[in-house]
Amino acid sequence: MTDTVSRRSTLRLLGAAIAVATAATGGLTPPSRAWAQDKPDAGVAPRVEALIAKLTLDEKISLLHGATDPATLGQAGYVPGVKRLGIPPLRLADGPAGVRVTKHATALPAPVLLASAFDPALARRYGQVIGREGRALGQDVLLSPMVNLIRTPYAGRNFETFSEDPLLSSDLVAAEIEGIQGEGLIATVKHYAMNNQEKDRTTVDVRIDEQTMHETELRAFEAAVRAGAGAVMGAYNKVNGTYACESKPLLTDILRTRWGFDGWVMTDWHAAHSTVNALTAGLDMEMPDGAYFGAALKTAAQDRSVLEQHIDRAVGRVLTVLDRFGLLGGKASPRPARDAEAGAAVALEVAKAGATLLRNEQGTLPLTAGNIAVIGPTGTLPFVSGGGSAHVVPDHADSPLDAIRVRAGRGAKVTSALGEDLYGKPLPASALSPDFTSEGQGVGTGKTWTYDGKLTVAEADEWTFVIHYSAASAALRPKVLVDGKELFPVKPGYGEWFSGGLIYTAPDGLNVRRATVRLTKGTHTLKITAKGGDTGQLFRLRHTTGATRAKDVAAAVRVARAARHVVLFAYEDATEGQDRTSIALPGHQEELIEAVTAVNPRTTVVLNTSSATSMPWLARTGAVLQMYYPGQEGAAATAAVLFGDCDPGGRLTQSFPVDDDRHPVAGDAARYPGVDGREEYSEGIHLGYRWYDAEGVPPLFPFGHGLSYTSFSYEDLSVRTAGGGLDVAFTVRNTGRRAGVAVPQVYVGKSPDLRLDQVVRVLGGYRRLSLRAGEQRHVTVHIAARTLSSWDPTVHDWALGTGPRTVWVGASSRDLRLRGRGDVRG
Ligand code: BGC
Repeated sequence: MTDTVSRRSTLRLLGAAIAVATAATGGLTPPSRAWAQDKPDAGVAPRVEALIAKLTLDEKISLLHGATDPATLGQAGYVPGVKRLGIPPLRLADGPAGVRVTKHATALPAPVLLASAFDPALARRYGQVIGREGRALGQDVLLSPMVNLIRTPYAGRNFETFSEDPLLSSDLVAAEIEGIQGEGLIATVKHYAMNNQEKDRTTVDVRIDEQTMHETELRAFEAAVRAGAGAVMGAYNKVNGTYACESKPLLTDILRTRWGFDGWVMTDWHAAHSTVNALTAGLDMEMPDGAYFGAALKTAAQDRSVLEQHIDRAVGRVLTVLDRFGLLGGKASPRPARDAEAGAAVALEVAKAGATLLRNEQGTLPLTAGNIAVIGPTGTLPFVSGGGSAHVVPDHADSPLDAIRVRAGRGAKVTSALGEDLYGKPLPASALSPDFTSEGQGVGTGKTWTYDGKLTVAEADEWTFVIHYSAASAALRPKVLVDGKELFPVKPGYGEWFSGGLIYTAPDGLNVRRATVRLTKGTHTLKITAKGGDTGQLFRLRHTTGATRAKDVAAAVRVARAARHVVLFAYEDATEGQDRTSIALPGHQEELIEAVTAVNPRTTVVLNTSSATSMPWLARTGAVLQMYYPGQEGAAATAAVLFGDCDPGGRLTQSFPVDDDRHPVAGDAARYPGVDGREEYSEGIHLGYRWYDAEGVPPLFPFGHGLSYTSFSYEDLSVRTAGGGLDVAFTVRNTGRRAGVAVPQVYVGKSPDLRLDQVVRVLGGYRRLSLRAGEQRHVTVHIAARTLSSWDPTVHDWALGTGPRTVWVGASSRDLRLRGRGDVRG
């Protein structure tokens, strides 16, 4: 390539050439003129073109895939720059709830808790914290936000994303991206697209129709593009037969041509599957290495299976974003210092704002009396964040027990009981022959430690063996065999490496794995092999049994009986790489709740869970407070809500089903988790609350639900046509005796003029209002034309749903207080 003029025209012409070359891709829709037209990238600045002209082929290729970082900041990805031309190296860090590096950072509440506040302005501030910290911690690109919709309650990453509603997710992602990028950190919206579950995430082929895709999952990605996201991360899964990371319909037709995205697309980690196909379909960067976009790309360029212009196009996209962020030519602004105090303040505010009070009978909350029992393992241990790539090393984390003690004050009596022992007790020496110390065994570098002995069991019982070990690699996990059966086998797959959540990590940071077996009375063989590897390792073998569990529950019952109030912390520990198999609380927590509420009905259950939970014990509780994974300030936030220092400001961003049999993907394996690698999104546009409404199935708690410590009335509804949509005006009044937060929601019904499948009602808008006792506010919520439109697959475009449409205002999707009608005009 020589002069910039010919290069610019080449880049423009290239689009058309690629369209011809890839017209036959298995698509999401049949090619139509509107779809298949492949426009060239519009905004490649002359200075970026000039820079590309100076790059050698090797240098270009080095910008298109990840490599090993010579520094050790601990982030997920690294792309070396080209120093001689002032192109800086890029460091790419997770993630959704704060900056994930080796150093400490603000561990913000999980995104689902942020979303529960229904407050885009707060999402912007959340983004600002991450943006500044990312820059301060040596990062250039953030691998977040995640906007995949909550489609199934089982999905392992529901806590990392926002909601089941496209409008809410769109509003939040746009605001958060503005916050992140306003601080100079490049945001990456992920995982594009249809990565709505972890089960088989790297292989599953999602079959989804065009209308569903546009009306549900794609909307928040589009909002992210409109908000200027610098990067997009392609998903692991396939969509309609093609891997998302090499899907031309997704990467070119929709992202570039329809939405005008001018940033770059990277793969999810190890999600590339080809070189030529992927590059020509629109993928720009492979992460975290160069299996396909390294040497293979050079060969492809040399034997002309890809044109160098294709490579230039990808490089141009990366450099365009760096240019936009002022990172080229050594001109990047100096990195700021961390502001840990400001981060902590936002973390606290978000956790309080998103705290969702699901039930509150007979004034159980706020707590008043100073005689409180705190029960549950996560009452004593801080449960900060979920596992996997969303785990952040928090600046600090207090336990809820301490926070409750502090808040309850000096004269108060606060007792506690574990209720369930998550990390096990040492093996009883008397049961081992020969005896050994299973606590803190150290194995030297390169050494192997073995035990070959007998374990004698006095009564038949269910034993859970719990191993704690320091090795970072699963391959060095100590082997434990009971009666010849290996208890902690290493299963192949990326999910093996995850740690960081409550369940997989002990309070002192060791990795934890559990295995449950039934042991008969008598003697069993026990063999252990632990290897020191390159750095040596530490491990412990612990256990619980039916008998130890019964004792733990009995202790909890004792303290519950003696207290006036009980706060029982229940957990569910999710991580990427795996889905839940049931929405019930894991382990023996249901029994614990039953036992405790039986002796003290003034029990508040605090849920530190990732997503929806079934609650067969609900009617026996006084209150239920949903806190999800509340971040490093979670304990203080939880105590503040429990004692009524603030109103619980959150509302559910996902429907909670009654049980495993009554939700949108229940009882249909083709719908979830897929059959023979293929999954049908056969619920169509009826996702989340839309499905419950369409099917007439009552949820346990509906989308939008959340109680306040005060009460609100809704009055004076008026609806008028405005700006291609509808303006919905109404008055909300605080009718109680204390200040509180109302989140009125506006829903809109079907259009009589559309011959397309439509949902019963859809969220059209919302407003978060803080009102003093007796205060009233007249608000206007605009329902945008996009929300009033359906995607028409016959013309591959939006069709406005004109005509008279019912409008509701309510406190949830099932608590509709006002009803009116608006006229939508085209
Ligand atoms: C996750 C991504 C994450 C990446 C890097 C992948 O396993 O799916 O969300 O950004 O790892 O940590």
